[in-house]
Order: sequence, then C-alpha cells, then structure tokens
Amino acid sequence: MHVINLRLNTAMKASTTPALLVFLLTSSFLSLAQKQGAYNAIYSGIPWFDDSGNVVSAHGACIIQDKGRFYLFGEKHSDTNNAFAGFTCYSSADLYNWKFEHIALPVQASGKLGPNRVGERPKVMKCPGTGEYVMYMHADTLGYVDQYVGYATAKNITGPYTFRGPLLFDGKPVRKWDMGSFQDKDGAGYILIHGGEIYKLSDDYKSIAESVNKSMTSGFEAPAIFRKDSIYYFLGSDLTSWERNDNYYFTATSLKGPWTKRSFIAPEGTLTWNSQTTFVLPVVGSKETTYMLMADRWSFPKQASAATYVWQMITVSGTSISVPLYWEAWQVSTTTGVATRVKVGERAIENADKKYIAYSGKWQNDTLSVRSANEKDASFTVKFKGTQIGFSGLARPDGGYARVTLQNSKGKTILSSVIDMYCKYPVLTLKFLSPVLPKGNYIFTVSVLGERGNWSDKRKNIYGSKGNVVSLDKVTINE
Ligand code: GLA
Repeated sequence: MHVINLRLNTAMKASTTPALLVFLLTSSFLSLAQKQGAYNAIYSGIPWFDDSGNVVSAHGACIIQDKGRFYLFGEKHSDTNNAFAGFTCYSSADLYNWKFEHIALPVQASGKLGPNRVGERPKVMKCPGTGEYVMYMHADTLGYVDQYVGYATAKNITGPYTFRGPLLFDGKPVRKWDMGSFQDKDGAGYILIHGGEIYKLSDDYKSIAESVNKSMTSGFEAPAIFRKDSIYYFLGSDLTSWERNDNYYFTATSLKGPWTKRSFIAPEGTLTWNSQTTFVLPVVGSKETTYMLMADRWSFPKQASAATYVWQMITVSGTSISVPLYWEAWQVSTTTGVATRVKVGERAIENADKKYIAYSGKWQNDTLSVRSANEKDASFTVKFKGTQIGFSGLARPDGGYARVTLQNSKGKTILSSVIDMYCKYPVLTLKFLSPVLPKGNYIFTVSVLGERGNWSDKRKNIYGSKGNVVSLDKVTINE
C-alpha cells in the first residue's frame, strides 16, 4: 500500500513494447526475479511487504497449513477509520515471504459485515467431515454494540468465502466479541470467546454443538489455544482496547477444565513485548515443534501501514510457557521445526556519524544516546550503496508517526511507508527494514510526520501517544 506498486497491470503489458517492458522490469526494485527470497527471517514490529510490494495487512490473524503451504488470514485495514475493509489471505512456503492471494471475504453489500461495520479476528479451519474451509469472525457495529460470531465457507482455502451469517447455538447467535479458534488432534473444532468460554462445533463446523467451558474471568480478550502433548495452553489479553498489556495464560489437561491460571506470557511490564496475542502456530518439523506466538502491535488510526506483527517463539516446559526474550529477527525451519535467532544488518551507522547521516530541521541528542525530533518534516537522510537498509530508534510514550522513503539513484521514490514510534514504555528497537533490493545506490529518508497514534474506546478512555517524536539510534545497511 505504501510502496509505489511496480506490478505491471494487464493493460500496461498489452500496450508495452518488449524493449520498454524489459526496461520497466529491470528498473523496478520488485521485479519478479527480485521478489523471491526478499526476507531471510521473521522480523517483528516492522512493516512487511508482500510479493507485490504492498504492506501486509492481516491483523487479528491466524495461519493454517494446507498441502505444505502456510495461509495467513487477517483483518485488512485502512489508515482512516476502523470500518471492516475485508479479510485478506496471503500464502507462504517459509513464513518470511508472503504472497497476496485474495481478499478472502470482502465487505458485503449490506448486513452484519456490510459498509461501516466492524469485522475482526478471522479464524479459518478445514472441516474434516465436509472438506470445506470455514472462517469464523467477530462482526459488530463501529461502536461495538451489536457483536456476534459469524461464519463463512469456501471450497478452496484462499476463497472467496461466502458469508453465512451468525453461528448458532441452540438456534441463537453467540453475542460475544473477541474470539479465536482451536482444532484438536481428533479433528474437532472449537470457538474460543473472551473470558475463557469454549464452544465445540458440530461435525459440519456450521453451528455449535456444545458449551465446553464457561466464562472464567473478565477481560481475557484475543483468546488463543494450543496443545502440546496432553496439556492445553489458553492465552489471552487484558481489556485495554488496542493498547498493549501483559497477556497471561491458563493450562488444563482437558478443554472442559479445570483451568489453572498461570502467569504472564512475557516478562511482566514488557506488555507482551508490546503486543496482543491472536494465535499460536505450531511449526511441526522432523526435529522439533516450534510454537509461534502470533500477536498484534496495533496503531490506530494508521492500522493499515503502521500496525505491525510480533511473532515470537514460545518456550514450553510442562505447564509453563514463556517468551523470555524478544527476538527482533529469527528463522524457523519449516522442515526441521528448529528456531534460530539471527542478527539484523551487517553494518551499523551510529546516529552521530555526520559523514553518512544528514539531518534537516531540529534534532537533539536525547536519552539513551538517540537523536530525536518532534518538529513536523524534520528528517534524516542516508545515501548508501547496498541491498537493504533499516534503522532502530527509541519507541516511547511520546513517539509519533514517521514517514520512511527510499529513492533510487535517479531520485524516483520506490518505497514509501509510515511507521509508528510509540510505545507505552521507552524501548530501543528495530523500526524499519526494507525488502532486499537489487544492489545499487539509494537515498533513504525518515521524516517526522507530525501525527501520532491515539484513540478512545467505547468507555471514552483515552489511549496512545502524547507526542510526535521520531528518534534514531542506528542505521543498518546490508551491502
Ligand atoms: C481489543 C480487541 C480487538 C479490537 C479492539 C478495539 O484490542 O482484542 O480485536 O476489538 O479491542 O478496541
């Protein structure tokens, strides 16, 4: 969305001469040959670009594996409001590079997922009984006062999915908001509801057969369950709208409970490494299974461009799970299942290096040796030769939005993106990393947008940033 999309459309192809076509393909940084292997790892907290150079918009997501490929479903968002904009489907062989497949479920002409409604947390499972793919979601009004769980079905995994309306239990809709899904080893499907409710689906996955577990606590939003051996782990968040909190979990040896409340998923105070859980994907390999926490780092109003994903490896030991460290970049082998932390960037340029970094506008030396600015349009620019560039900065309570652009040697903008430098607590972290580019000369610019992420919930509580600050710790370059 924020990359100048260099994909050639059919009309252009038809009217383009072969010589011009070759020129266009070689001058575009996301030509087909370059798209492959653009990312070598899972990078949390930065925008990801898909095979067409558009930002990956799949929030409140889930992943299912089908015939050796991973399919990611999530909420598509806009940068202006929270209206349902469709559920997206992407696919990947390696969990690093995502191909945009379709809008799996578009905005409906009218009804519960029609214009100016809310659609959240799509979860897809394949029904073993019918072979159909069934998607579940939270449908609501923009003010969150008409919630219920709906479902949609498709013959093919990528869709299009046909919206079927409410999922019924005893003939009545489930009027609840945050939901998740879980498929057990025996193929039975379950719907999870905030507060800890669990419902078992009927054999055709199109209605609820049984209430398995009643509400056990208040809050406990964004519910997700995974199973290792005979233990079920039930993860959820506190109720703080899109603001992050310390997510926690319960364990049990049966979905019926009794569930035992355990502790936080990540070290207390990290606010689940600044994210909210949505799903756990077991990456099953020949050597081990890595349980991957999938979580959202929301950013209202710029949920399309500036909200990112936090995917981390969960350490599991008996009834205890944790994400003790935040891995900015890591690899997981889809063959062996083994996870490995990797380093970001080959060469680091410190913010004081005036030979490489040109500042414009008012910048100051700040806490933790970062340089920061909060004046609109203040910027820093780096001219470099290489294949990839990124930067780290201080995300903080007064952090705002930054505009990131990349120009080629001819001065043409080939990438433009908005990132969010807000965090409720100050933390030095990777904020941006470009896709891999053809080796060449580029100009990288980051500027203060003069806007910030903030919002209020339906109880009129105010959340988000108190300033527009953008800061730079280091620029990293790959040659
Ligand atoms: C919580 C929920 C999200 C969304 C927001 C809206 O974060 O988990 O799915 O509904 O609230 O405030």
